[in-house]
Amino acid sequence: MAPEKAPHALAPEIVALASDHGGFELKELLKKELAAKGYKLLDLGTNSSAAVDYPDYGLALAEAIASGQASRGIGICGSGVGISIAANRRAGVRAALVSDSLTARLCRQHNDANVLCLGARTTGVDVAKDCVHAFLSTQFEGGRHVRRVEKLG
Ligand code: RB5
Repeated sequence: MAPEKAPHALAPEIVALASDHGGFELKELLKKELAAKGYKLLDLGTNSSAAVDYPDYGLALAEAIASGQASRGIGICGSGVGISIAANRRAGVRAALVSDSLTARLCRQHNDANVLCLGARTTGVDVAKDCVHAFLSTQFEGGRHVRRVEKLG
């Protein structure tokens, strides 16, 4: 059976993924899932379970978003905290650490988040997949939220 394709109008052009060693396995699972759905991916590493530093990967993810190389990003570390802090250190990047699909949807609708962060040690695979699906298929609502997002700089 042909893989289910993401609806074109909702599919961001390129989704960048980055993780440290704590998020490596989950990144690989999500990569397969998204590739099967037709998303174009940019894998920024890490590429094994060998220990690395999450700021290097969070910042690489932020650069990919800030430079326009990718329109959405997914960052994963053990807790999701370190990589979200790192990703949020670049202007124009709004990284949301989530562990449920409602928050993943709201971070798009209200905050126009362009990076989703997950904790591989705290969030199960199926919940992580739901979060990613909500994040990638939900539009920013605009309206009253525009002013608030603009205040974030
Ligand atoms: C790595 O051991 C761990 O500290 C990292 O994956 C993350 O949880 C940091 O916030």
